[in-house]
Amino acid sequence: MHAKLTVVKMLQTFQLCVSALTLFVGICMAQTTVSVSATASHAIPTSLWGVMYESGDGGLYAELLQNRAFQQVTPGTTAALNAWEAINGTSLTVIADTQPVSSALPNALSVTIPSGLTGAVGFANTGYFGIKVTQGSVYTASFFYRFPTASSFRGNLKVALQTTSGQILAQSSISVSGSHTSWTQVRATLRATTTPASTANIFTVTVDGTAAAGQTINFAMFSLFPPTFKNRANGMRVDIADALQDLGPSFFRFPGGNNLEGATVAQRWQWNATVGPLVDRPGRVGDWSYINTDGLGLLEYLTWCEDLNMEPIMAVWAGYALGGVSVPQDELGPYVQQAIDQIYFTIGDPATNENAALRASLGHPEPFALKYVEIGNEDFFASTTYTYRWPAFVDALKAEFPDLHYIATSFPFDPVLSPTPTEYDNHLYASRSGMVANGFFYDDVARDGTQYFEGEYACTTNDAGATLTFPTMQGTAAEAVFMMGFERNSDIVFAASFAPVLNDITSSQWHPDLISFDAGSVYLSTSYYAQKLFSKNRGDEYIPSTLPTSTGTVFWSVVRKTSVTPNELIIKVVNTVATASSVTFSLPFSSVSSTALAQVLTGGATDSNTPTTPQLVIPVNSTIATGQNFTYSTPAFSLSILTLTL
Ligand SMILES: *[C@@H]1O[C@H](CO)[C@@H](O)[C@H](O)[C@H]1NC(C)=O
Ligand SMILES: *[C@@H]1O[C@H](CO)[C@@H](O)[C@H](O)[C@H]1NC(C)=O
Ligand SMILES: *[C@@H]1O[C@H](CO)[C@@H](O)[C@H](O)[C@H]1NC(C)=O
Ligand SMILES: *[C@@H]1O[C@H](CO)[C@@H](O)[C@H](O)[C@H]1NC(C)=O
Repeated sequence: MHAKLTVVKMLQTFQLCVSALTLFVGICMAQTTVSVSATASHAIPTSLWGVMYESGDGGLYAELLQNRAFQQVTPGTTAALNAWEAINGTSLTVIADTQPVSSALPNALSVTIPSGLTGAVGFANTGYFGIKVTQGSVYTASFFYRFPTASSFRGNLKVALQTTSGQILAQSSISVSGSHTSWTQVRATLRATTTPASTANIFTVTVDGTAAAGQTINFAMFSLFPPTFKNRANGMRVDIADALQDLGPSFFRFPGGNNLEGATVAQRWQWNATVGPLVDRPGRVGDWSYINTDGLGLLEYLTWCEDLNMEPIMAVWAGYALGGVSVPQDELGPYVQQAIDQIYFTIGDPATNENAALRASLGHPEPFALKYVEIGNEDFFASTTYTYRWPAFVDALKAEFPDLHYIATSFPFDPVLSPTPTEYDNHLYASRSGMVANGFFYDDVARDGTQYFEGEYACTTNDAGATLTFPTMQGTAAEAVFMMGFERNSDIVFAASFAPVLNDITSSQWHPDLISFDAGSVYLSTSYYAQKLFSKNRGDEYIPSTLPTSTGTVFWSVVRKTSVTPNELIIKVVNTVATASSVTFSLPFSSVSSTALAQVLTGGATDSNTPTTPQLVIPVNSTIATGQNFTYSTPAFSLSILTLTL
């Protein structure tokens, strides 16, 4: 048992009966006194709060066209035309092109314009359940085309954004020639002249039916980007990126999560399939049956980490696919090498390593910052083979990169791994009460040098076991208790991230999620605000105080920020029940500000921020009276952040 706990457990929480008269029917108001220590127990790691992330199409990745390159689809099927539709009588089919645009993209959209059509004919893409169009915004469209049979046709393709009722929102013209029997890439800039009321808009490519009668044109690798976060080419959707940036995350865990693993070994995430020109990325069927374009690839992830000043926690595939297959021990070699190559791409020297040279050729000669590499994901599901997979990967990676830290993903010390992991990634999806109970989990974990990452967690059900569609204030309060456990135990917990982070409400698979979105908007959950309040109100040292009772209803955590003058004392208080209660803080500091900023997130038990009530529960600021001894009334179902100066 470490010194910190010995100290704080000596201080007792007590219940004070305010009515001495009522001996038989006690009207007792919960009253808690918290004694705060004068000295810190440990420094809080700067990495503590961050974001876990996997798979980005139609969400963080700003590409607006769905099924843009016919990746991983079966030619000739209806499914291959997902998100595409014919306009005014053309014939569309996805083919395996005899002359594919690239070896990574064997499929093309074959468009035949029958004779007898007049006016605009062509095809449309319906986007990721709509396309948001904003007046004045410039959209960058591109695609490849070729005529499978040379023709004398010359004409213009009209590329446009339009409403489903045919109102043109932006358009541009591209001249094409039937002499192009090999692939030609064309680009168009579309400046929107109107903001339509709805996001039910489409991207269209049309040609004059009479002029193009009888022609067949093949198309491949479409793309349509709105303005992106920091105007990066192939970049991120601004509103979602802003929401993530506003969390102030210190790290970014990628590329999964289950999505790293693949349903089969062949479908695993492979870094080298995600870098270089988009036309060279084959995409993959992800773990939840939809196709990943891999447009958001390793370099984009790492650049995004730099843009938000986040440290990458990067996973390598570790010989196990989610479908249940483990690669036999004597066949792991190529997969270990692929992991080594991934790390060289990330941090290697371009002068001495070809994968690092590839990174340099793609515009980033400097190595990225990297400290943590995660070996697999949730390998407690395959712990019997992790016993040989773990050493196969770690021993080889350590030999190449001795300074990196390697995170194990099986249950801590079960099975016993060799070499002994220095870091573990734990996950917890729990009911409201389970979340609260686990707020004390790390208090009892041995201080033996092992460090912990809570790489995924969320309150997913209420106490009756019903899955939450959106986080509720009651669930969020429970998560905040769990998060206080990380803060209190941040001598051994170095990082924590909520999951899942993003949810497209028009195609939802997992919930609750931190941020929901549709084609037009983002919806920030109660749990989002709790994450933000913890992340934006960090201390650099933990100050022990009376330990909350694990079976109690009010919880707190005290940190000090010494990096500012005067120092700040930041007290977080959570109330998990429907009754307000008072907490008296007794501070041993000689000068304590007479007021504090209180940032309070509070709402009804089942209150959620949803598309219909997006701002039902948001943090509210006020000023409260403080001093060496002060009493704070914590509202029902609430998280409060009290910032005092010392
Ligand atoms: C279909 O053709 C009609 C008549 O030419 C035209 O007004 C309409 O815009 C076309 N549809 C699309 C989506 O281009
Ligand atoms: C990625 O590299 C592996 C070998 O590590 C190779 O088998 C695979 O074909 C490569 N994929 C792409 C798309 O280059
Ligand atoms: C509340 O105070 C915090 C810290 O100063 C600030 O970042 C935040 O913008 C304030 N919120 C509102 C709604 O004013
Ligand atoms: C705060 O409370 C402590 C303990 O009850 C007491 O010793 C101290 O004088 C109080 N400080 C102030 C400023 O009231």
